[in-house]
Amino acid sequence: MRRKFIAGNWKMFNGPKASYDFMTKFVSLISSSKVITESISSSKLEVAIFAPAISLESCVRANVSSSVILGAENMYWEKQGAFTGEISAPMIKETGCTHVIIGHSERRHIFHETDSEVNKKVTAALAEGLTPVMCVGELLQDRENSKTFDVIATQVSEGIKGIDPLSVADNIIIAYEPVWAIGTGKTASSEDAEEVCASIRKLVAQLCGCACAEKIIILYGGSVKPENTASIMSQANIDGVLVGGASLKVDSFMSIIESSL
Ligand code: 13P
Repeated sequence: MRRKFIAGNWKMFNGPKASYDFMTKFVSLISSSKVITESISSSKLEVAIFAPAISLESCVRANVSSSVILGAENMYWEKQGAFTGEISAPMIKETGCTHVIIGHSERRHIFHETDSEVNKKVTAALAEGLTPVMCVGELLQDRENSKTFDVIATQVSEGIKGIDPLSVADNIIIAYEPVWAIGTGKTASSEDAEEVCASIRKLVAQLCGCACAEKIIILYGGSVKPENTASIMSQANIDGVLVGGASLKVDSFMSIIESSL
């Protein structure tokens, strides 16, 4: 049985103070929920927050019970050097964070990140012992032109290229986020999301073997809200959700976690 992974991606919201305040309230609510703490302690559930780099330290400080996994939203593949404005995997690790989002659609489409850059970042994150959450997703025009499965297959296979299959299964999380469903209020239907997530698992089976495919955690993201979480989470190949807007309010993110159980 795969664990559930419920994650918030704050994007460019919440500076250090707002992050500290959110995390303080959030950690206290998590600690007071018996069902959530039991699910976390029995390794059936992981709850994660991906915060802006400048807010990571205050998130770590507020995460007193260490019940929440913390991660960055992006990184560069070099360890250090003259790369103004970038942060590296060792820097993320030094803050106490364990995870990092790689290749989010906003990185791919606003900042023109390529599959090969995503692959370098995933490889560098793994080398540092961080868990990359590698995002993939098609544009609306891809879907309309029946290119969804081709686009996703390319992004997944290029993203994990050259990585040891066991490491793919144990240390990478894949998030399927259709670009047209992000921040638009349009959620993919649970069946559409399942179809693509199942195709990702099948591809991982072809590339890395069936045992790896059975193990890998696959998330759905795109306009996830408390009201649609249970339906999305009921799908066989969807192990969790990556939540943008609805993770910015403690109460709605808590409802999403509760609805996922
Ligand atoms: P929304 O939940 O705001 O649509 O964002 C999804 C997302 O991009 C999470 O990474």
